[in-house]
Amino acid sequence: MVFSYNTSVRNGFMLWIYKGDWQFNPLPIMLKYVRRKVAILTVFIILCFVWMQVSHKSSCDGDCKKLSIIQNALFPFSYNITQKVIETHTGKVLTRKHTRLVTAVDCKHIIEGQKEEIANAKIWMTKHPKNSIPDAEYLNLTSDCNAYKRERGFLDFIVTEEEEKYPIAYSILVYQEVEQLERLLWAIYRPQNIYCIHVDLSSPKAVHNAVNAITGCFDNVFVVSKKETVIYEGFSRLQADINCMADLFQKNRKWKYFINLPSQQYPIKTNQEIVKILQIYNGANDIEGMTGNRMLPNRFKYVHKYVPQDRGKAKIYRTNVTKSVPPHNITIVKGSAYGIFSRNFVRFVIYDEKARDLLEWCKEVLSPDEYYWAMLNHNPHLGAPGSYKGPPDKKRWLAVFAKWGERCQGKYVRGVCVFGVGDLHELVAREELFVNKFHLTYQPLALDCLEEWLYNRTFNSEIVDLDFYRNLPFILR
Ligand SMILES: *[C@@H]1O[C@H](CO)[C@@H](O)[C@H](O)[C@H]1NC(C)=O
Ligand SMILES: *[C@@H]1O[C@H](CO)[C@@H](O)[C@H](O)[C@H]1NC(C)=O
Ligand SMILES: *[C@@H]1O[C@H](CO)[C@@H](O)[C@H](O)[C@H]1NC(C)=O
Ligand SMILES: *[C@@H]1O[C@H](CO)[C@@H](O)[C@H](O)[C@H]1NC(C)=O
Ligand SMILES: *[C@@H]1O[C@H](CO)[C@@H](O)[C@H](O)[C@H]1NC(C)=O
Repeated sequence: MVFSYNTSVRNGFMLWIYKGDWQFNPLPIMLKYVRRKVAILTVFIILCFVWMQVSHKSSCDGDCKKLSIIQNALFPFSYNITQKVIETHTGKVLTRKHTRLVTAVDCKHIIEGQKEEIANAKIWMTKHPKNSIPDAEYLNLTSDCNAYKRERGFLDFIVTEEEEKYPIAYSILVYQEVEQLERLLWAIYRPQNIYCIHVDLSSPKAVHNAVNAITGCFDNVFVVSKKETVIYEGFSRLQADINCMADLFQKNRKWKYFINLPSQQYPIKTNQEIVKILQIYNGANDIEGMTGNRMLPNRFKYVHKYVPQDRGKAKIYRTNVTKSVPPHNITIVKGSAYGIFSRNFVRFVIYDEKARDLLEWCKEVLSPDEYYWAMLNHNPHLGAPGSYKGPPDKKRWLAVFAKWGERCQGKYVRGVCVFGVGDLHELVAREELFVNKFHLTYQPLALDCLEEWLYNRTFNSEIVDLDFYRNLPFILR
């Protein structure tokens, strides 16, 4: 049986098991392929079957083989069920390994870098352009939150005790294409974490509505309390993350690290791996720092101003006025808008006077988000917690991997590689935690296959070699 790709890759695989309590819902698939009478009979069989499962649940521990034999007999076409019992502190979590999430091509071979399968994938994608889920559709999809979470895979995770004790806070910046936000959220979602979504104030109403609808289904996912109109290279981009930081700090006392992401990024480490790596960081921030020629001095040598436009977003222009030096004897360092920030560093950003003075100074800088974090982290005399004391350029930066002007197998947009299927082989071997970036409708199998790969790693509890991280010079010992 062949699953239609565009409806939803995950819809075809709705056998989710969570904490030993599971639901089985092949209805949408069945109804599509069998006549009504048969369907009614099938519903009856399913009801019996569900009842069987429920009554069998408590005795399932250690005796699940029998179940899967029955299931394979009843639905031999749908699933090749192999079971795996994973021990966690909450007891045994029963998970089912689906054969594959992606059926159109063999993602394993693509990720191994096999040229033939990569070529196949490209041909397949030209024949099957991706139609992303319309933003408005999310109102329907989320009308029943439990069904939404089940069908979109949000109940399908495992959480170890170590992960549960180490919550992470995320902010995600989104301005369009809610499905891509949802795909990213799916990859990093765990019940103990907390997520702040910043929707660009100038985004279409459908985007705001869709994000509201999704966040409404979760206790630990929320929309930022103050939205900004995000202007390319403008200050509001930085303010958006700070708004989320403040909300996250207020809402939850437990999280240990903060990570900011745009919806075009994707993790290449599982939550379990991220937790283990952050524990090794032990309070150190992972913020990029560059000095010298790479600093783009015109961005901070002159005062920049905003001109409101009749329609749409304000424009930024450079004046001839020379900009003052930064306050508090702070040295200018350039970095990235993205990073990994310890909780104490976030507290410093929100409450420290020197941090606020620097933020004020940044208002007239072009792309201030590429200076503010770097300057806080690479001026140890400020006393920002977790900051770096060595020469900025020497510090490895592992928050995000992006390809600039190197061999990109996808396409370049503003100098950054938008990944294609041919990039995956290289990406999965990287030491960074996230990669930037994907476009949902450009070579969609790239994101699909990475999703399948991450899913497999999650449920196989695969862990990268942590010695690399233990030997990093910037971690706190
Ligand atoms: C299911 O998987 C098992 C082992 O992974 C394999 O031996 C078997 O042939 C598969 N069955 C089908 C129907 O694909
Ligand atoms: C994921 O696991 C499934 C089942 O073991 C396997 O068939 C598939 O090739 C794996 N995918 C990747 C990308 O490794
Ligand atoms: C949502 O569902 C209603 C009724 O079920 C339907 O009329 C409407 O077209 C759907 N909206 C979208 C955006 O799919
Ligand atoms: C800035 O200086 C240039 C020449 O040095 C001049 O042409 C331009 O009008 C000045 N711009 C402003 C805004 O003063
Ligand atoms: C400013 O920093 C420089 C070195 O970075 C140092 O030599 C100087 O004494 C500092 N000045 C003040 C006022 O702290």
